[in-house]
Amino acid sequence: MKTAAIIVAAGRGQRAGSNTPKQVRLLGGRPVFEWSLRAFQAHIDIDQCVLVVPRGKHADYRDLIEDNVTVVEGGDTRSESVRAGLRACEIEENGIVLIHDAARPGLRAETISALIEAMATADAAAPALPVADALKRKSGTALSTIDRSELFRVQTPQAFRLKAIKEALGHDQDLVDDLAAIEAADGHVTLIPGDEALAKITYPEDHSRLEKLLMPTAPAPRFGSGYDVHALEPGDGVTLCGIKIPHTHSLVGHSDADVAWHALTDAILGAAALGDIGDHFPPSDPQWKGAPSDLFLKHAVEISRRAGWALTSCDLTLICEAPKIKPHREAMRARTADVTGLSIDAISVKATTTEGLGFTGRKEGIAAQASAVLAPVTLQD
Ligand code: CTP
Ligand code: MG
Repeated sequence: MKTAAIIVAAGRGQRAGSNTPKQVRLLGGRPVFEWSLRAFQAHIDIDQCVLVVPRGKHADYRDLIEDNVTVVEGGDTRSESVRAGLRACEIEENGIVLIHDAARPGLRAETISALIEAMATADAAAPALPVADALKRKSGTALSTIDRSELFRVQTPQAFRLKAIKEALGHDQDLVDDLAAIEAADGHVTLIPGDEALAKITYPEDHSRLEKLLMPTAPAPRFGSGYDVHALEPGDGVTLCGIKIPHTHSLVGHSDADVAWHALTDAILGAAALGDIGDHFPPSDPQWKGAPSDLFLKHAVEISRRAGWALTSCDLTLICEAPKIKPHREAMRARTADVTGLSIDAISVKATTTEGLGFTGRKEGIAAQASAVLAPVTLQD
């Protein structure tokens, strides 16, 4: 293997000030670190990807990403985290390593290619942007102008030979970036054109600014549909949308047989493309016997949100001759609002008969049909 990419994601993101560390906040529906990880994984010249994660978080990240990514724990400083990443590199000593901040999601394939190309003749390479604004130095009340023609804003990824950067970073100091280590050794550094999209998320306002830059149009909402049937047997009532409705019969099922919420759970999972209710709550598992269906519904809403999709509305149709749904409709909507977090006006509950035809017409069972609309979660803490 010749070329490796290291993404350092072990920082605490203190200046960004959100509860969730900035590198795992969702941006356009995916964690920030995943943006550059995908760019490296998709690039034909990258043989190994190393992700450096906060101490104690190895298992959390491991669950989120593919097996072919090397995951290691970082240290207290950025340089320590880089050193941990370098130790995990399995490329040849003379191979190229690209070291990148997870907090810079806007990495394009062109930048990776240009860096690798520059390494044909350089000891190190990095993307850099000219300084557009006038620069002033203030000492006391006096201002002086600084010549900006020789000044650059340097970004990551920064490219090195593995052996050279290991040696240069071998000491215990914490450097502002990895290039500083090569500069100190008088190495030949090539600057390639930087990219405004490669800006780093540092302060609270940076996340939404980058999101707008990288996702000029939000992804379209997603639609899902669900369908479920439960049989009726003699009993004292049925549970629909969490409301117990007195009846001469009850619904048969391994849980509370709430056919309406089962269909809705499937519609939500369907919109987020997260499988179906049977995948998450297998009927074969005794722990779900008699379980209240609000558990299933809540879980579907939560895992969809974690995947970047928020439930925005739903529409349910109950198909049965009896019991009459209308008298219970408002209670069913209100209870569904409680569990999903939607407002009542975004929840529709309807009912129809099948004119005496089929299994619903013969009152052998109740069927339910649901649809759900999920919108991308844009800002999330
Ligand atoms: N980083 C790291 N290990 C550290 C410190 C930083 O891997 N001990 C990573 C961050 O996760 C980030 C990159 O280095 O992707 C750039 O650092 P910075 O922007 O300073 O991020 P944080 O240190 O997380 O933020 P802050 O300094 O505001 O706490
Ligand atoms: Mg920092």
